[in-house]
Amino acid sequence: MTHDTPTQDTPTQDTLRLGAFFYATGHHVAGWRHPSSEADGGLVLERYIGWARRAEAAKFDLVFLEDGTGIRDASLRSSERTARSTHFEPVTLLSALAAVTERIGLVATTSTSFNEPYNVARRFASLDHLSGGRAGWNLVTSASDAEAANFGNDGIALHADRYERAEEFVDVVLGLWNTWDDDAVVIDRASGQFSKPDGFRPLDHRGKHFAVRGPLNISRTPQGQPVLVQAGSSGPGKDLAARTAEIVFTANQTLAEAVEFYGDLKERMAGFGRGREDLKVMPGLFPVVGRSEAEARAKFEELQALIDPVVGLALLERMIGGFDLSGYDPDGPVPDLPESNGAKSRQQLMFDLARREGLTLRQLYLRIAGARGHAQIVGTPAQIADEMEERFRAGGADGFNIMPATLPGGLDDFIALVLPELRRRGLFRQDYEARTLRGHLGSRPPAAPPRQER
Ligand SMILES: Cc1cc2nc3c(=O)[nH]c(=O)nc-3n(C[C@H](O)[C@H](O)[C@H](O)COP(=O)(O)O)c2cc1C
Repeated sequence: MTHDTPTQDTPTQDTLRLGAFFYATGHHVAGWRHPSSEADGGLVLERYIGWARRAEAAKFDLVFLEDGTGIRDASLRSSERTARSTHFEPVTLLSALAAVTERIGLVATTSTSFNEPYNVARRFASLDHLSGGRAGWNLVTSASDAEAANFGNDGIALHADRYERAEEFVDVVLGLWNTWDDDAVVIDRASGQFSKPDGFRPLDHRGKHFAVRGPLNISRTPQGQPVLVQAGSSGPGKDLAARTAEIVFTANQTLAEAVEFYGDLKERMAGFGRGREDLKVMPGLFPVVGRSEAEARAKFEELQALIDPVVGLALLERMIGGFDLSGYDPDGPVPDLPESNGAKSRQQLMFDLARREGLTLRQLYLRIAGARGHAQIVGTPAQIADEMEERFRAGGADGFNIMPATLPGGLDDFIALVLPELRRRGLFRQDYEARTLRGHLGSRPPAAPPRQER
């Protein structure tokens, strides 16, 4: 059992945590059309192995895979023109990557709206065993009606109801992960005792959404329990994260937004008896780097020139709450739309960005085609390191979820050009200090629900 609980070799918090956020063919919506990208990446394991090994050799904390339980575009016409319509289920893929990597964390997204807690607890416990303690679960409640339609629903549940279910869901998963003692498995052939008496026990959870007897049918994991990650940024999202998450992924544009979000979230933790250091805030960062600013700009403009208006508008429709924008003048202002029942914070971010920069619909979809509202920096290694250092020192981030525009090119550029600059400034590790994801983070797991006595 390799519980990397915080010790003297736990990484100190004056270095950044970095995630490698892999989107098949890269994050720029037209990335697959760029001649340098591995456009078939969504379905070729060797591609992911190559990207994951690059990230591990560069000492990233984790690989992160997003997920949707369905093709999320409103119309399949645009889905036919993106590389996002076909890709591996993330836990399945990370199980394969676990066998060809040794130290890098493996974080997959799974929805609480379209899964059962017992299956999710089992899946991530298996990944933690398979990877020797490197698993993380990114909890989302899913935000698109297109996904709900794959599970017999006309639309997603109300935002508040999705989070209410998620709150109970995560407690059941935490409870199941804790139904086994660390030393339960004894394999005593002589006495015939495979597990020690009372080494595992039922959960007997009865709640509004779930009734789960347990125990889990897989023993306690190398980390004790996989790392909980969260990506919701609304009020209910922040409360759930403050109570249960060890990493929060988020999207913010300005330094002020980043500092405000960070401060609010860390303050909420005290209300749940948790220390600020037990949660790492890692906003998304979309870097396009060149040896000169002009080179970086040219790389970015090359991708922008490949944007298909149908695909660009469809992405904005998703990011702004799932509304059909085809009836509006693309060169007109962003219309006032009802509050979304989907990704509330992302919709607000789109409105704020459009208002702040006075963007038309077309300008907005061109503006978010790469980073989908996350921070976007096109520049030299020093310029990108400056922005990262400023947000880190100002209390706006503990690290970043790096979003390469294309793969492998965008990742290679970041590793070759930006990481040396971060290391020169003492902002990123030279080598791994720990063997588990929680060890890389230096965090403590959230409290599990009280145990049932047998
Ligand atoms: C870095 C990041 C990754 C995300 N990954 C996913 C994902 O894989 N699947 C998903 O359905 N939503 C994903 N989301 C969206 C969130 O789950 C959530 O819907 C969104 O942040 C809005 O949350 P809110 O409704 O609490 O404001 C992601 C968000 C962020 C910031």
